[in-house]
This record gives sequence, structure tokens and C-alpha cells, in this order.
Amino acid sequence: MPENKTSFDNRVVVITGAARGIGAATARLISSRGGKVFALDIAKEGLASLQAELNLPADQVIPLDLGNQNSVKETIDAIYAKAGRIDALINTAGVVGPTNVKVEDVQWADFENTLRINLFGTVWLTQAVIPYMKKAKYGRIAHVASIAGKEGNPGMTPYNVSKSGMIGFVKGVSKELAADGITINSLAPAVIRTPMNADTSDETLKYMISRIPMGRVGEAEEVAELLAFMGSEACSFTTGFTFDATGGRATY
Ligand SMILES: NC(=O)c1ccc[n+]([C@@H]2O[C@H](COP(=O)([O-])OP(=O)(O)OC[C@H]3O[C@@H](n4cnc5c(N)ncnc54)[C@H](O)[C@@H]3O)[C@@H](O)[C@H]2O)c1
Repeated sequence: MPENKTSFDNRVVVITGAARGIGAATARLISSRGGKVFALDIAKEGLASLQAELNLPADQVIPLDLGNQNSVKETIDAIYAKAGRIDALINTAGVVGPTNVKVEDVQWADFENTLRINLFGTVWLTQAVIPYMKKAKYGRIAHVASIAGKEGNPGMTPYNVSKSGMIGFVKGVSKELAADGITINSLAPAVIRTPMNADTSDETLKYMISRIPMGRVGEAEEVAELLAFMGSEACSFTTGFTFDATGGRATY
């Protein structure tokens, strides 16, 4: 394995949400550091353009609905069968769910869908990779949560619950895996410039930025740097932790 612990030479890295935004930026960065990236997303068009950009073999670009438990397991099993190892899982896929809806008005189907993709998807992916990582006595798992999971955004209850669920999930699981060479962490960004925010009103953006001491939104490439660390051999003594990417908003 590489001398440089941040290198991904000979490493197999599964990245969800890779079609755009933070996931695509992470796929670019990890590819540039030598990783064999398996790019997963529900959005086939975005996957196709990433494949062209990074010159990925067709079998490393896999359409997947994270909200389907069987598909998640089948996809991870197929990647392991093909690649013979899974060194890192970086899960960036996610949906915002209802916004500007008071909790008593949230439709249950919307609540369930947000949890299914963000939280259950996180659990299913983790369950699927753990046996392979345990066998290898090595693994890195990184899930993208949100500042919303630490502080809560009004009118976004399903999203808040899904993201705080992710943060709680990694805390307990990290202790189960601590002696197996596997670290599992989450990451809580504040507002990041990605397609997810393309429709956010100027007023809301201004409010969000006003809470960030650096006075600007974050860039997907900045988040990718943290995820690359969390997914690398270098992240060897930190587990169960929620990394921060908020420009100074959250210092806890
Ligand atoms: N952008 C921000 O301001 C921000 C802030 C905090 C947290 N986050 C989190 O960061 C992660 C990445 O966000 P982003 O800004 O890059 O968003 P994005 O919308 O640009 O990308 C999310 C990706 O997830 C994919 N996806 C959605 N549902 C899926 C499903 N069922 N199965 C598989 N893939 C699915 C989408 O197709 C998309 O490519 C998300 O988990 C998001 O909640 C984003």
C-alpha cells in the first residue's frame, strides 16, 4: 500500500452521489490521487458525464437508488466481486425533502422518503461494506450529514432527523468497528455551492451566509478535501466523529 497515506494508489473507493455536487468533486479528487473509483448515483446522465470526464471504465459507473435496500446490497456485493476489495465508502448521496413545511403539515410519504434515502441508505450501505472491510482488517467509511443534523433548520424536519440520525449512527457503529481497522465518520457542512442549492432564494442564501464567519458559501472542492482525508489511510485515529465544513459557523 502507498507510503503516502493520503494517496489512493491501489485503493478501491465507492462514492455515492457521484453524479454531481460534492460527490462528483470527491470522485475527481480521489481519482487524481490514484484511487479506483466506483461512482454510484440514481442520476444516469450525470454519471455518464463523470464517466467521460474521468475516463472511467463502464463497469465502474453504476446507477443505484439508495432507497432500495436490495439494490444497495447487490451493488456493493457486485463491486467486491469485481474489484476484490473495498477500501473506502464515501456516501454523499442525499435529498433535501420538504422545505418550508411545519412539522404538523409534513406528509408522511415525504418524511419516509427523506429518511429512506438519507438515513436508511446510510445504514444499508454500511451494513453491506462492513463484512468485506472486516475480512481485510481495513476500511474507511465517510457519510455526509449536515449542520442541519446538529442545529436543525426550521421547516425541514425530515432532513434534520435524517442527518442527526446519520451523526448518531456513526457514533455507535464506530465503537463496534474500532478494533477492526475500520474508521467511520460523518461530515457536517453548512451551505455549499452545488446544484442542491441552485433554487435557494437569494434571501435564504444571504441569511445562511450571514451565519458563516467567513462570510461566504463553501465550495464542493473544499468538502471533497475533507472527505478524501476521511476516506484515506491517514484517517487512522479518528472514528465516530463529525467533521466540520462550515466556515467557522460550528466550532463544536
Ligand atoms: N450543498 C449543501 O449546501 C449541503 C449542505 C449540507 C449537507 N449537504 C449534503 O451533502 C450531500 C451532497 O449534497 P450536494 O450539495 O452535492 O447535492 P446534490 O443534489 O448536488 O447531489 C446529491 C446527489 O445525490 C443523488 N441522489 C439523490 N437521491 C438518490 C438516491 N435515491 N439514490 C442515489 N443517489 C441519489 C443525486 O442524484 C445527486 O447526484 C448530501 O447528502 C447533502 O444533504 C449539502
